[in-house]
Amino acid sequence: MRIAIIGGTGVYDPKFLENPEEVIISTPYGDAKIIKGIYSGEEVGFLARHGVKHSVPPHKINYKANMWALKSLGVERIMATTAVGSLRMNLAPGDLVLLDQFIDFTKGRDYTFYDGKDGKVIHIDFSEPYCPELRNILIEEAKNLGIKLHPYGTYICTEGPRFETPAEIKMFANFGDVVGMTNVPEVVLARELEMCYATVSLVTNYAAGISKTPLTHQEVLSVMAENIEKVRSLFSSVIPKIPRERSCPCKFALREYRGNNK
Ligand code: HPA
Repeated sequence: MRIAIIGGTGVYDPKFLENPEEVIISTPYGDAKIIKGIYSGEEVGFLARHGVKHSVPPHKINYKANMWALKSLGVERIMATTAVGSLRMNLAPGDLVLLDQFIDFTKGRDYTFYDGKDGKVIHIDFSEPYCPELRNILIEEAKNLGIKLHPYGTYICTEGPRFETPAEIKMFANFGDVVGMTNVPEVVLARELEMCYATVSLVTNYAAGISKTPLTHQEVLSVMAENIEKVRSLFSSVIPKIPRERSCPCKFALREYRGNNK
């Protein structure tokens, strides 16, 4: 299995997979539940980040088990979705944003496989946090399908699970475009395992203080439900277009530490 999809809030149902089969993968970090299925003759894995019943809050997700499980199945390419609040008036609810940068405002997450326990100190380059090859295919396919996709966006990752204060949002709006609670450490762990990773964020609301009304989780779920079909059809078209051979730098993230330049 070389391709996986990670579904965020409101995306629990891997509808486009044929013959879905649930598997539990044991990892050194705990168990992960993955649904395997077939798409276009290709085996694809689906992981519901918050659990299929949205029972795991962002700060309690076992990101390391999830990413390790995907790696252990042979996954090389991951497309993820996230619900986000918008920090910009030109990113409206229902819009899709293809992330190209992130800023980490999380507080206490287990965000690395290299925490120094085995005496290894690893610093990975994050100049290009999201896979450039996957990003290009997503941009191309969105064009072909006539789906509006903002091609750049900086994601501010907060700890949650509460939504932000208007003062926090005023500060974040100086730095980023959208705000969510889950992309870190997922994007970091994918790179540490040399898996390609791209995220299509779906704007579900204007962020606190920009929105005229208090935020509700129900609002996030309803806007997600109304718009998720765009993400599904985008991912469905992208899957057959992903080349077998990777020509991006993601597979070399740890090359410096292997000592053999491969
Ligand atoms: N803030 C943080 N996470 C979110 C939001 C938000 O406004 N909307 C959807 N996920």
